Amino acid sequence: MRILGIETSCDETAAAVVEDGTRILSSIVSSQAAIHAPFGGVVPELASRHHIENICPVISSAMAEAAMEYAALDAVAVTQGPGLVGSLLVGVQAAKGLAYVHGKPLVPVHHIAGHLQAPFLAHAGAVRLPALALVVSGGHTSLFEVPAEGEFHLLGRTRDDAAGEAFDKVAKLLGLGYPGGPVIDRLAQGADDRAVEFTVARIKDGKADFSFSGIKTAVLHHVRKNGIAPVSDPARVPDEVKNLVASFQRAVVTALVRRLRRAAEERCPASLILTGGVAANSLLRREAARAAEELGRPLFAPPIALSTDNAAMIAAAGEVAFRKGVRAGWDLDAEPHLPLG
Ligand code: KG4
Ligand code: ZN
Repeated sequence: MRILGIETSCDETAAAVVEDGTRILSSIVSSQAAIHAPFGGVVPELASRHHIENICPVISSAMAEAAMEYAALDAVAVTQGPGLVGSLLVGVQAAKGLAYVHGKPLVPVHHIAGHLQAPFLAHAGAVRLPALALVVSGGHTSLFEVPAEGEFHLLGRTRDDAAGEAFDKVAKLLGLGYPGGPVIDRLAQGADDRAVEFTVARIKDGKADFSFSGIKTAVLHHVRKNGIAPVSDPARVPDEVKNLVASFQRAVVTALVRRLRRAAEERCPASLILTGGVAANSLLRREAARAAEELGRPLFAPPIALSTDNAAMIAAAGEVAFRKGVRAGWDLDAEPHLPLG
């Protein structure tokens, strides 16, 4: 089975062809990061305009790289939501047009179901179920139980900012550019992550929920109190800033892994999953791997290209949905707040 996946929920225009949910025949990701960087975050109106420019060339490249004719596809899968409505609409309309013209079934995919499918795509046949999955991205920080492929029960989520959003806002505050996660990850290498003592709020009612707005404010207070100026030359970042972002990163990672560990102790899953854009973070990957080892459970974290937004994960999740008989009509609409689990 060959599925064309299309993803435009945020600032990446992506298309991919995946065979049998496990073989990536092509995966094209056109990032708009450079366009949004001067603003320190994604500007929704700019994002949708650039998706419109990019969507046809990106889909054509994915089909060409897979050496695939539209007639040979079994279905077109597209991210329906959640995400920026103007961005989602571009992918949804492109998918509808292609599916209609070529007479193919149209499969709507939840963006997070895509992230949760990435480990099954990257580690075909290896993920043991039930799994406990931590999804950390720019828009989401959630813990799911995955009893079977394509089934998700939400155990907890952020009550305010997503972890990736906190990375991006701290980077913006310090003049480090967008997206903030990769820059902070790089600057933190070798820095003193005990220089500033940050804590992440613990939710006291026993839920596996997260909260990251407090640490963002704590960084802001620290910056003001110590008169730290935004970085003007990215090639010469002062040690004070490196130590600050390393301390911030350590606090966020500690909070994420603590929740993951606690939920794993309670639920005894057969394996752990770490996915979403922030799963690209080197410290988070290391600490999650250490926790998994101590818990005696395998950890499945897709490679970075499949952790951050991409369309291969959407095609793979589309395949699972397709097999379950999920189909969309021509009235399919973008759903910016689509729930899951
Ligand atoms: O999943 P994703 O590509 O898009 C969303 O669905 O949001 O995640 C993007 C987020 C951004 O906030 C970005 O700063 C963060 O993932 N990110 C990282 C790293 N690479 C990307 N955060 C921490 N460390 C990284 N290495
Ligand atoms: Zn994402």
